[in-house]
Amino acid sequence: MKILITGGAGFVGSHLADRLHADGHDITVIDNLSTGRYSNVAHLEGKEQFRLIIDTVLNVRLMEELIRDSDRVFHMASAVGVRLIMERPVQTIETIFRGTDVVLGFCARYRKRVLIPSTSEVYGKSTQVPFAEDNDIIKGSTSKHRWAYACAKELDEFLALAHWKESRLPVVVVRLFNTVGPRQTGQYGMVVPNFVRSAVKNEPLIVHGDGSQTRCFGHVADIVGGLVKLLETPECFGQVINIGNEYEISIRGLAEKAIEMTGSKSEIHYIPYDEAYGEGFEDMQRRVPSLEKARRLIGYEPTRTLEDIINDVAAEFRA
Ligand SMILES: NC(=O)c1ccc[n+]([C@@H]2O[C@H](COP(=O)([O-])OP(=O)(O)OC[C@H]3O[C@@H](n4cnc5c(N)ncnc54)[C@H](O)[C@@H]3O)[C@@H](O)[C@H]2O)c1
Repeated sequence: MKILITGGAGFVGSHLADRLHADGHDITVIDNLSTGRYSNVAHLEGKEQFRLIIDTVLNVRLMEELIRDSDRVFHMASAVGVRLIMERPVQTIETIFRGTDVVLGFCARYRKRVLIPSTSEVYGKSTQVPFAEDNDIIKGSTSKHRWAYACAKELDEFLALAHWKESRLPVVVVRLFNTVGPRQTGQYGMVVPNFVRSAVKNEPLIVHGDGSQTRCFGHVADIVGGLVKLLETPECFGQVINIGNEYEISIRGLAEKAIEMTGSKSEIHYIPYDEAYGEGFEDMQRRVPSLEKARRLIGYEPTRTLEDIINDVAAEFRA
């Protein structure tokens, strides 16, 4: 099949490109290399059945041509990462909402299967864990900019479901929980690569807040397997589905584990959120996925542990 991956030089997108290329598909990646890196797909370039286009998903004429020529679309391009969202608020909203609007519009016109990644951030400040797809969601005020990411992604979800409702566009919306593994950069505030890199270098690990906040981390290889299955399962069309890992750990616990597993001499330093992200930053205490729906629809079962993740990320930094 011909598969278009927007944002395919990014972290998740490049693993998806590897997997689908290895499965024998014809892959086109479009990426503007804003947070993605050429090195993530350099090993694919020059191979048969792989094409890299460096451009933006906001190039409407190009996107029409690419989508018309594809059998499947994985729309992984997005502004990503809390730091980027706090620092470039306009770009965040425009990339997320306008980009998805372009993709969904052409997928609807040419009747193409499309996967739209959303995020666990949409659950906002909800404390009703585990987060199930039909739970109510609670957001902070619009003056707190971190919520712009969640709201833009939520609007993407509404638009995708609207296309399904109005014209039965075969679209799957996936709420990704923290996805980690090799190639993820720590540059935009991602906690696992930052901790592991600091631990490997024996530098201090910087924890925001008191570190009691918890997260669940999914290995990118598990996540990618789930994404591929979801788009090949028609029962998933018009659905919003969580994908992640249910194992929960505090950020302090994660820091300790990274230090222990890498045999590091690093210390843990705690800094207030305000110092890391500016005044008025709000974070969620817990974020745990309910994977019941993914299990029921595609038999989703994560197979890699947090230890696997830390080992894989540490091996990459050492290399
Ligand atoms: N990694 C996670 O933990 C996580 C969690 C929740 C949701 N997601 C979602 O998964 C998707 C992929 O995220 P990721 O972690 O791989 O991040 P990433 O930053 O590595 O990937 C995003 C890619 O999109 C590209 N991009 C950005 N704007 C573009 C534009 N206008 N045109 C073309 N390309 C553009 C970037 O260069 C990058 O390669 C995103 O939609 C993100 O919101 C990821």
